[in-house]
Amino acid sequence: MVENTTKKIDTRNLDEVKRSLAEGSLKICVIGIGRIGLPTALSFANSGLKTIGVDINHELVNQINSKNFPLKDEPGYAEIFDKVIKNEKFSAITRIEEGVPFSDVIILSLPTPMDENSIPDYSALISVGSQLNNLLKPSSLVIVESTIEPGFVENELVKIIEGSDKKLETGKDFLIGVCPENANPGEILHDFTTLPRLVGGIDELSANVILEIYKHVFHVELVKMPDCKTANAVKLTTNVFRDINIAFVNELAVLFEKLGIDIFKVLEAADKKYNFQIHFPGPGVGGPCLPVNSYQLLNSAKKVDSKLNIVSYGRQINEKMPYHVIDMLTDAFNEVKKPLKNSTVLLLGISYKPDVKDLQLTPAKQIIEKLRECGANIKIYDPYYKSTKIFDIQTEDELEKSLRETDALIFVTAHKEFYNIEPTFLSTKMRTPIVVDSRGIFDYYEARKAKLIFRGLGRGKK
Ligand SMILES: NC(=O)c1ccc[n+]([C@@H]2O[C@H](COP(=O)([O-])OP(=O)(O)OC[C@H]3O[C@@H](n4cnc5c(N)ncnc54)[C@H](O)[C@@H]3O)[C@@H](O)[C@H]2O)c1
Repeated sequence: MVENTTKKIDTRNLDEVKRSLAEGSLKICVIGIGRIGLPTALSFANSGLKTIGVDINHELVNQINSKNFPLKDEPGYAEIFDKVIKNEKFSAITRIEEGVPFSDVIILSLPTPMDENSIPDYSALISVGSQLNNLLKPSSLVIVESTIEPGFVENELVKIIEGSDKKLETGKDFLIGVCPENANPGEILHDFTTLPRLVGGIDELSANVILEIYKHVFHVELVKMPDCKTANAVKLTTNVFRDINIAFVNELAVLFEKLGIDIFKVLEAADKKYNFQIHFPGPGVGGPCLPVNSYQLLNSAKKVDSKLNIVSYGRQINEKMPYHVIDMLTDAFNEVKKPLKNSTVLLLGISYKPDVKDLQLTPAKQIIEKLRECGANIKIYDPYYKSTKIFDIQTEDELEKSLRETDALIFVTAHKEFYNIEPTFLSTKMRTPIVVDSRGIFDYYEARKAKLIFRGLGRGKK
């Protein structure tokens, strides 16, 4: 628990905030210490501010308090973790009431996923917001880093924190603003030290106080936005832009297969033009951001009776890609006149993106479901998921061993390790050398030369 003997800082007083930053007496509470929240909390602690992390995940909190850093795939943070645990600037708790009342700044890094009908789910923010109504001490500052729809803070969260009885008044009893998080899993420290951050406040003072605090912790460009909703709109715009562009290259990839054009050659050359921005095709778009952010923006549009056709088409295309991978696989099995049923298929990579241990909305899930429907036996090799059970499948420990008695291999994730695989290695070790490359890992001609039964996304058959 954070000691309640220390003086509470009045965050509505900018000079007092500046003094407390210089003295290191401003106390921070980060609620939700997962992929983004934990590195955030560690950055605040590393800047000399006493920081407490709150999370309902008891296992995670115990792991942290046992000095065992959970995010092994985040370079640079293990050292910071060791330092701030040792100098007692950071600790974790499960009970929110032991953190919020004794902190000056409350940062929300809670999950904002979507439900099975692709409707954004803000239940974690709503639940914590209503707890803040009871726990927030006057003069605190709340900062929402979670990705939310524009207007969520102004129209919903503020009312929840104030309470139906208006026990608290925004701008008077507490300040609130947003700093939507933009970091990329696997390179969070790099992004926290290079990427500009957007700050929006419910009022001018909230924005200015957040800017002052973030200037102390993150030495990057801070962009002051006119309000919270504009800052949140930027975050969604950048990610939805990516989702739509990936959908475009995915659709092109399927076309180019039929035209016998290698999409990777096209993209490489197109990228030489000054106003082209390269995106790559793949077996689908996963992760906690892109798909959800598109549905968040679609939800915002629905509320004001507007349509965002390009975003919904983009989603449809990206969501079909795992099934296209299965079509490529079936086509290869047809070539060798073998049934997919009872054959053994090895998935290389199951994370939703390269070089991270993260399965959120991974397209591997749909690929596995479809393979099961087809009656195939499934193996998984992923360097981040060795000797464990994923989607009810016992994962493999060694690549070479996993190739034995395997009839087909699908590159699902472009983990670095996979670029070292030689096509001839696969053709000599596999029972049937079918390879479906949905990530452009193999050179098309090398794969053919190695006598693989090769299907590459966006690469045609010949
Ligand atoms: N992971 C990313 O790539 C990324 C990048 C940018 C922004 N974001 C956004 O950041 C936010 C957090 O995402 P994340 O990836 O860190 O999620 P995460 O699931 O890794 O972490 C969220 C943490 O919040 C905890 N939690 C859930 N409900 C809680 C509650 N009521 N009280 C306390 N703790 C609670 C969970 O146990 C979990 O540890 C989301 O809005 C996400 O969209 C994520």
